[in-house]
Amino acid sequence: MAIHKVIFDTDPGVDDAMALLFLHRSPEVDLVGVTTTFGNGTIDQTTRNALYLVERFGMNVPVARGAGRPLVGEPLDPPDFVHGQNALGNVPIPEDFQGNADPRPAHRFIIDMLRASPGEITIVAVGRMTNLALALREAPDIVGLVRQIVVMGGAFGIAGVQGNVTPAAEANILGDPEAADEITAVDWPLTFVGLDVTQKTFMPTDYLAALATDGGEAGRFIWDVSRFYEAFHHEGGVPSIYVHDSSAVAYLLRPGLYETRSGAIRVSTAGVTRGMTVQKPDGTRYAPCPWDGRPSHRVCTSVDAEGLRELYRTTIVG
Ligand code: BDR
Ligand code: CA
Repeated sequence: MAIHKVIFDTDPGVDDAMALLFLHRSPEVDLVGVTTTFGNGTIDQTTRNALYLVERFGMNVPVARGAGRPLVGEPLDPPDFVHGQNALGNVPIPEDFQGNADPRPAHRFIIDMLRASPGEITIVAVGRMTNLALALREAPDIVGLVRQIVVMGGAFGIAGVQGNVTPAAEANILGDPEAADEITAVDWPLTFVGLDVTQKTFMPTDYLAALATDGGEAGRFIWDVSRFYEAFHHEGGVPSIYVHDSSAVAYLLRPGLYETRSGAIRVSTAGVTRGMTVQKPDGTRYAPCPWDGRPSHRVCTSVDAEGLRELYRTTIVG
């Protein structure tokens, strides 16, 4: 069995918490660190949530606190109408809970870990790309050290969808478009699992209820943490929850569940399209343009959603 050493870069976050449990429960994953980003909550909230989840589920991995703001400008307001006031679906954390974060900032933790295990570590990044961009700025050598990077972010118009915060932009990318454009400028093994596939992947209420019944403490927590998030989807006319961050984990574990397309990627950083992700598929011809000379990266274009649900269920239930 292939074992993936993983750093999980995350902004917990309801679906982040579900993805973290997916990684934790997978026998194919050796989780070597959690790094936090602002996004679904402030960096204080998401770091506290990550520390809580790691402790509650006995993960025994370091948590390194990441950037609290994007490379440029101010953070967007946390989407408390999606993830609740505490970014964990309003599932309370004991008031006296205090975790201990790693003393290093997240980007330094990433650099140290990659240098210590060249070619071995995969980064699953499901929040803003700020920590990755800061790591890259400080240590360009990490390009040759990472095994692969799987990003939940963006939308490439495959299914006619370009955004979920604006018509042009997905949340993780809109939260720091400059960072996203920087990480797509370098030639490292990078795959985007965007809304094109995550909004094609649902977990219905009865599926989540069965996890609560059969999945022990993790399954019950997934049920609890997803109640507020599910209500948000229902209010928006979506019949059941989209599977965003766990899709990045599923791609890592079973890339065969996805079809991909390769090509250079640019991220709009200006105007009404700020945060838009656009790929120039390999082999296509255009006039000279800002995609020229950029490396090719993969974008997921289709998903076997039933396969993902089966994998998630068997992993959580054990
Ligand atoms: C992404 O944005 C966040 O709200 C979710 O956790 C996910 O990473 C979906 O657009
Ligand atoms: Ca997230």
